[in-house]
Amino acid sequence: MTVALRVEQLTVAFGGLKALDKTSLTFEQGKICGLIGPNGSGKSTLVNTVSGQIRPSAGTIRLQDTEIGALRSDQIVRMGLARTYQIPRVPPQLTVQEVIRVPLHFVGREQHLLGTLHDERSIARFCALDAVFDRRCGELTVPDLRRLEVARALACGPAVLLLDEVMAGLSRQDAAVMTDVIRRVHEAGVTIIIIEHVMSVISALCQHVLVLNQGALLASGEARDVLSDPIVREAYLGKGFKL
Ligand SMILES: Nc1ncnc2c1ncn2[C@@H]1O[C@H](COP(=O)(O)OP(=O)(O)OP(=O)(O)O)[C@@H](O)[C@H]1O
Ligand SMILES: [Mg+2]
Repeated sequence: MTVALRVEQLTVAFGGLKALDKTSLTFEQGKICGLIGPNGSGKSTLVNTVSGQIRPSAGTIRLQDTEIGALRSDQIVRMGLARTYQIPRVPPQLTVQEVIRVPLHFVGREQHLLGTLHDERSIARFCALDAVFDRRCGELTVPDLRRLEVARALACGPAVLLLDEVMAGLSRQDAAVMTDVIRRVHEAGVTIIIIEHVMSVISALCQHVLVLNQGALLASGEARDVLSDPIVREAYLGKGFKL
């Protein structure tokens, strides 16, 4: 197994609260991995920490073969790890094209890992944003904003992409469009880590699923096995859960 991202003994504390408590997780290269768990279990904290926004108080973070725990977020992006935000953060006055341009410029078009996806238009088209290419972000709908989050992350040319609840608030139809985008990103060779509360999305997309509970790993394995695990049902899914 080739590892895309591995955290070991990772601890993140907010005052007295340990959002992650000596947590060790491994995400395999080339897979779509699901990261699930109850509200407050530490999923977004993990994303914020591996992407360099929060400093862990203990533990290691490795992206492929490199220890990145002491790097700044801009250095981590350049090394190939990109993330989306659970709450989209885009300046309302910028257009879709401009939002995609910023990371393209920052990372460098010539170093782009994703082959043909090295200009604003092709990234927008890939994310079904062609029709709103010149619109200002303040005028976009929630589904457009969620796909723009993905587009902006893709513009970083990632090897590993972390998606923090990109389906939240989407209709069935918009979720299907997003699912298609994620599948195509994966087919382009990107390892994907997807955080999601909708289990039909997890079971449709993910080859491997990890469950966090109170900042610790509760279960890990193939989607079908994890979602039918009685411990996971007890802690998160509910006893009557059916896919
Ligand atoms: N910046 C912060 N300051 C203080 N506490 C925080 C901060 N960020 C997260 N927490 C706390 O850390 C714990 C984990 O939060 P986190 O956002 O990682 O959960 P989550 O698994 O992403 O939840 P959700 O499914 O609701 O998004 C929670 O108790 C939360 O209140
Ligand atoms: Mg979260």
